[in-house]
Amino acid sequence: MKYSALKGVQDILPPDIYIWQKIEDTAKGVFKLYGFQEIRIPIIESTDIFIRSIGDTTDIVEKEMYTFLDKAKRSITLRPEGTAPAVRCYVEHHLYNLPTPQKFYYLGPMFRYERPQKGRFRQFYQIGVEAFGISQPSIDAEVIIMLKRFFDIIGLNGVNFEINSIGCDKCRPDYKNSLLKFFEGRLEDFCPDCQRRYIKNPLRILDCKVEKCIELRSGAPLVTEYLCSECKWHFDELISYLKRLKVPYSLNPNLVRGLDYYTRTTFEVTSEHLGAQKAVAAGGRYDRLVEDFGGPSTPATGFAIGLERLVALLKETWSEGYPAPKVFIATIGKEAEVEGIRIAEDIRSHGLWAEANYGGASLKSQLRKADRIGAEIALIIGENELRSGMIQWKNLKNGQQGRIGIDEAINILSPLS
Ligand code: HAM
Repeated sequence: MKYSALKGVQDILPPDIYIWQKIEDTAKGVFKLYGFQEIRIPIIESTDIFIRSIGDTTDIVEKEMYTFLDKAKRSITLRPEGTAPAVRCYVEHHLYNLPTPQKFYYLGPMFRYERPQKGRFRQFYQIGVEAFGISQPSIDAEVIIMLKRFFDIIGLNGVNFEINSIGCDKCRPDYKNSLLKFFEGRLEDFCPDCQRRYIKNPLRILDCKVEKCIELRSGAPLVTEYLCSECKWHFDELISYLKRLKVPYSLNPNLVRGLDYYTRTTFEVTSEHLGAQKAVAAGGRYDRLVEDFGGPSTPATGFAIGLERLVALLKETWSEGYPAPKVFIATIGKEAEVEGIRIAEDIRSHGLWAEANYGGASLKSQLRKADRIGAEIALIIGENELRSGMIQWKNLKNGQQGRIGIDEAINILSPLS
């Protein structure tokens, strides 16, 4: 019987895993500078949480959720995203009683039953951040500049910050009416999903991926033309922060996002190197969600980075190499092998990666293996070396070699790395 991973999911192996680890460590370091603290939220949640927040007319809820009944017949969903669980957590633990803002990040797998293609998976990883309690646009600017700082440090270049505002409960009804009018005469040409969306939530038509619908909606009214004075002020302020903080951005009035909970700011970071799935990160403001989940009225904003896409972009230009053993200890004979294991332990206690021989192989094949696994230095121990107390060393990168006292081997290894 042969097994393979399910469609749309993947194993992450060395050496790629080192890119993942670097991303995760760098993100944690950057987020700390802005006071974001880690939360670990469950992978499974009540299905209602996602229907209520993401919206029952969105692609995610209509088509993409991994939902099942547990043994007690409760409807459970594998989280398709992290914002709704983070809000559930914020309200459940009364975190609104703590000083504002409360800033959190999370990291982990998300699940969406999408058609797999380049950059689109059924299990994918996000690093997400959420900042609760501040309605001022300065915090939208802060999360965007934090994302930019992270991308700069990790070495991601050539991305575009696309920004928009989709208004609030006050101005959105006018915008919806203008969309209804615009679509009215041509409704029967839209896909059946959009015809349903027309009645339930016309904004979702702007997010439909069907080619015909994309064509039909060209020329539709733009949300930014319908912003109320408060939303307009908020958007203008955000833009002036971005200018001042030198974040290059472009305005994209079509950026309505595929989740219903957004209010005002929405943004996506896109790269032309990603193909059709070009957003490497995305987010925005969701000022109603905490209240919808039973908490006090609490504005909030955040984003999530798609890690598979970020790794794919970084891999194109990765020049750092990957970790490899500092030392390989090649041994000939049982006694030397035992001594080799002792020396390896000594080297490891100095914080260096040491590999030892596990018996059997000839010296030649041991040295070939040391080379293949990228070890920097080989130590060679045989009967003569044991007798004389002097072992051979060879730098496999530059060919230098010599002899050294058996307990001084650590001295020829460059300073702790
Ligand atoms: P989202 O746009 O659905 O937003 O996802 C954020 C990012 O996750 C996308 O830009 C993309 O990089 C990645 N992503 C999404 N779906 C897939 C997939 N099927 N395969 C690979 N990568 C994918 C959210 O999830 C919001 N919770 C973001 C947010 C946080 N808004 C406010 N706070």
